[in-house]
Amino acid sequence: MTDPDHTLYDLVGGDAFFRDLVRRFYDYVEQDPELRPMFPDDLAPGREWQYLFLAQFFGGPARYIAQRGHPRLRMRHMPFPINKAAQERWLTHMLTALDELHPPEPAYTEMREYFIRGSLFLVNQIDPDTPEDTPS
Ligand code: HEM
Repeated sequence: MTDPDHTLYDLVGGDAFFRDLVRRFYDYVEQDPELRPMFPDDLAPGREWQYLFLAQFFGGPARYIAQRGHPRLRMRHMPFPINKAAQERWLTHMLTALDELHPPEPAYTEMREYFIRGSLFLVNQIDPDTPEDTPS
């Protein structure tokens, strides 16, 4: 990340920040009529994994990998039909939560860019009317 002695995890305030970010994000997901049905009835385990994953990804303790194994996020997201609309809703909720907390730079920009890139990488359904799907 930025400086090996001062990880982004430290810069934003450690566990408390990631707990808060994930809590806010999941609260939006819970209220989203389009996205909510894609998630399981019990949101608690997903909240915990998301929190442990993000804290680890941004330089915190390696608890996700210890408890859950290699993230393999694309594989773990395959059971969910993630089209462009779902990706946009997911990203809106995550960026809204991030804006509410607005961590100091360079954390804000790095996290924002990661969520944009990462969410696009996890799209696994091509919409029928997108140009890529049109026979040439
Ligand atoms: C940067 C983008 C993303 C990251 C880092 C991320 C990360 C994660 C993680 C760590 C988990 C838990 C995996 C586990 O079970 O161990 C998860 C679950 C999940 N994600 Fe994502 N995700 C991203 C984008 C998305 C998008 C775009 C969608 C769809 C709109 C999505 C939908 C889901 C669903 C439905 C679950 C299952 C929740 C559960 O089992 O409770 N994710 N994600």
